[in-house]
Amino acid sequence: MDQFIKINSLKKVFGEGEDEVHAFGPVDISIKSGEFVSVLGPSGCGKSTLMLMMAGLLEPTSGEIYFDDKSVSGPKNDIGIMFQDNTLVPWRTVEGNIKLQLELRNLDISKYKDKIFNILKSVKLEDFAKRYPSELSGGMQQRAAFCQAMIHEPNTILLDEPLGKLDAMTREKIRSDIQNLWMINKPTVIFVTHSIEEAVQLSSRVILISPRPGIVDREINIDLPYPRDLSVKRSNKFFEYVHEIQEVFHEYGVI
Ligand SMILES: Nc1ncnc2c1ncn2[C@@H]1O[C@H](COP(=O)(O)OP(=O)(O)OP(=O)(O)O)[C@@H](O)[C@H]1O
Ligand SMILES: [Mg+2]
Repeated sequence: MDQFIKINSLKKVFGEGEDEVHAFGPVDISIKSGEFVSVLGPSGCGKSTLMLMMAGLLEPTSGEIYFDDKSVSGPKNDIGIMFQDNTLVPWRTVEGNIKLQLELRNLDISKYKDKIFNILKSVKLEDFAKRYPSELSGGMQQRAAFCQAMIHEPNTILLDEPLGKLDAMTREKIRSDIQNLWMINKPTVIFVTHSIEEAVQLSSRVILISPRPGIVDREINIDLPYPRDLSVKRSNKFFEYVHEIQEVFHEYGVI
């Protein structure tokens, strides 16, 4: 399973005639199983459009997406998805929200009791299993949403700016949670972020997308050791990667 995800000439145009918006592509991307790939690009370049097409929630105008040689033709329920706005329902507890994901997939909940406890523990929410979303802080809700996206142990995870609304400290904490989870289970992760440092810290590869209509400008392999803790973040090599990407955004006139 060398090229786990293949994206071929993928393009999305919204609307018709005068209302036509060429949002994204054409783009070719190949992702290997177990890679952590970040997608970085200016606002409106089509990152969310790409994620929705990958999740099978939005039909491409042209081109194809393959997971393990199977073409995406409808909503994919075997992957984990986390978007900026968390998807917790207010009328269920944290635990109830996590179970909802299992119910939707017809999985046997009794087999997941320990897993639910362990994943909540990994983000320090084990004491809040019986609380409702309204009883949690924004960061805690986001961590609960993270558990919800991961509980069925998907081998592919799409994260579209999952940390956007969090304060800096919580954001740093969840970054390391995501990294730990990835290091243990090695899922394939596609991570959209606006933060260059976040992309360099987490990713094995960063894909830079041009302003709309987004195309792949360049791909940068991040050759730094994991776990990427503070000592790695203070290294010269880390700053070189960050500067290289900043230069590209500078050329776009975005920063
Ligand atoms: N449903 C839609 N109908 C019409 N146009 C849309 C629709 N969804 C997105 N677009 C347009 O497509 C372009 C790309 O949008 P998209 O949300 O993918 O950008 P993005 O890269 O995720 O931006 P941001 O970083 O701000 O989240 C934008 O110009 C947007 O206006
Ligand atoms: Mg977006």
